[in-house]
Amino acid sequence: MKTTDPLLHVRDLRVDVGERTVLKSVTLDVPAGALFVLMGANGSGKSTLGLTLAGHPRYRVMGGEVRFDGKDLLAMNAQERARAGFFLSFQSPPDIPGVKNNLFIRSAVNAVRESRGETALDAFDFLGGARDAAKRLGLPEAMLNRPVNDGFSGGERKRNELMQMALLAPKLAVLDEIDSGMDIDGVRAVVALVQELRAKGTAFVVVSHYLQMIESLAPDAVLRLHEGCIAETGGLSLAHDIARTGFARAGEPAVA
Ligand SMILES: Nc1ncnc2c1ncn2[C@@H]1O[C@H](COP(=O)(O)OP(=O)(O)OP(=O)(O)O)[C@@H](O)[C@H]1O
Ligand SMILES: [Mg+2]
Repeated sequence: MKTTDPLLHVRDLRVDVGERTVLKSVTLDVPAGALFVLMGANGSGKSTLGLTLAGHPRYRVMGGEVRFDGKDLLAMNAQERARAGFFLSFQSPPDIPGVKNNLFIRSAVNAVRESRGETALDAFDFLGGARDAAKRLGLPEAMLNRPVNDGFSGGERKRNELMQMALLAPKLAVLDEIDSGMDIDGVRAVVALVQELRAKGTAFVVVSHYLQMIESLAPDAVLRLHEGCIAETGGLSLAHDIARTGFARAGEPAVA
């Protein structure tokens, strides 16, 4: 990759879901280490963008180009994307009954380590880091032994997503409404973890509707998704405008 290339390069991305074209033409560059906030009305396609980038099969790419860290992201399957350093925290993290949380996360961490040419962590080495991560995210250690998200509360699921991110240390993390359903300590833990990973070089696209968290993250840019395109790019003032006036903008039709 040329040093001037962005980490994530999205050009004219068109995505169909079911019968609908949800993303019409998304163009976006995320430089390595940057933090962007993505805003947009309910149903505007924010989760669609994250899930498409992660390789979810329900989201059909009908056109455009996506390069990640110099590679053709759209040519890779979901596992390859994760190994390359892409991470998505789900807006609604699913349960995986029957799969122990610690085994699940260790398998993911070791797959990423293998792709970087690093040795696999055994259960003992993994557990030390996992315990620390669980503690700082306010998750009882016993949750490491439970099936993934099985019976977890809404906030616990979000904290569990963050634990995975902390242990995976991705190159790019898309956090889809990580703050929704989290208590005030959880939101503080998000901001602290994001800052720590950013200092180590992780870039972020953070989807959020909440001004207080957006301000705490001090984003490099705020983007607004509308009608299947990035309709506006600005700084924190764009988030303030949206908080004040809502998503209706002069000269734009309401969401179809
Ligand atoms: N399987 C599907 N069939 C038809 N439409 C779908 C399907 N899945 C998603 N959609 C539609 O795609 C649109 C975009 O949804 P998406 O979840 O990406 O929005 P969002 O911007 O993340 O919204 P929110 O702020 O509510 O999380 C919505 O109108 C949704 O109903
Ligand atoms: Mg969403």
